[in-house]
Amino acid sequence: MIRKILKWTGVILAGITLVAVSTYTYMSVSMKSRMTKVYAFEKATMEVPTDSAALARGRHLVAIKGCQDCHGTDLEGKVMNDDGAIGRLVAGNLTRGKGGLPAGYEVSDWLAALRHGVHQNGKPLLFMPSHETALLSQQDMAALIAYCRQIPDVDNELPGNDLGPVAIIMSYLGKMPLLSVEKIDHNRPMIARADSTEGVAQGKYLAVSCSGCHRENFKGGEPLAPGFPPVPDITRAGHVGKWTKAEFITTLTSGKTPEGHILKNEDMPWKMTAQYTRSELSSLYDYLQSIQ
Ligand code: HEC
Ligand code: HEC
Repeated sequence: MIRKILKWTGVILAGITLVAVSTYTYMSVSMKSRMTKVYAFEKATMEVPTDSAALARGRHLVAIKGCQDCHGTDLEGKVMNDDGAIGRLVAGNLTRGKGGLPAGYEVSDWLAALRHGVHQNGKPLLFMPSHETALLSQQDMAALIAYCRQIPDVDNELPGNDLGPVAIIMSYLGKMPLLSVEKIDHNRPMIARADSTEGVAQGKYLAVSCSGCHRENFKGGEPLAPGFPPVPDITRAGHVGKWTKAEFITTLTSGKTPEGHILKNEDMPWKMTAQYTRSELSSLYDYLQSIQ
């Protein structure tokens, strides 16, 4: 009797293992084909400014859009993560030093990356939030590219991406923003320029950078990856609804909330939000307060 039970337990366990292994294999093959698909977007270029006001704007955008969190302080590239579960995620060297962008990397290639989420060769960029940069105004896009194209060279050769099983499963389930190319509306025209007067409209434009973590509706949700804290609701319905504008600004520039909670920069990038201007933070507050 016992032997029979043991035998059947073994058969069932083997069955479960087989199903798990084949499910994973299926997910992995499917993700691999999506990651290596070659897209053929029409190459477009744009006039890139050289005046100091535009370069200063570009520098500010690099600071407030988190480019340095992933690509490093000097945009020299960085291994963002390297472990067995999620794998190795690498944000490339954006300078023209060794290991950086190839010599023939034109404005049209910058646009392919920032508007469409693909490499020069048409293959998807992994984990690069191009679905957010795609929403930049034409004026900001030009300033951003102009600034990035004149940063000093840094020699920094990096290994390639190598996704682990958790990243593959989470991406398959749509819980990790791996392939922004699949999320972008590629036919959407860029707006010419964004509203730069302080208020709700400017806040909405800026809040695109918060939506990747706080979700499209800013209501937060599950942690972004296993081991991270849940993401809070930052609309009027959450803590933010009880804060004054001054408290909101202090939180985003110091990493400490009015409730005394300390935000870790790895979870909530407050060192990035600290670089927004007061006026931009004020607009973000107005916008978030306008959402129920
Ligand atoms: C969440 C992290 C993250 C942020 C924020 C981010 N990037 Fe990236 N970016 C990446 C990763 C990862 C790659 C490499 C993708 C690959 O090789 O598949 C990448 C690739 C790129 C590329 C393409 C380079 C190439 O080899 O074709 C450009 C250009 C780029 N990023 C510019 C920017 C700029 C400008 C910003 C800020 C507006 C920015 N990135 C913000 C993670 C990020
Ligand atoms: C990389 C992901 C990420 C991005 C980008 C991000 N946040 Fe957060 N944010 C978090 C996480 C995670 C927490 C919760 C951290 C904790 O509980 O310690 C948080 C916390 C907060 C809090 C505190 C909320 C509370 O109830 O205490 C505010 C306010 C906030 N974020 C605003 C913003 C704004 C505004 C932006 C965009 C300009 C933004 N965040 C961008 C991940 C992010």
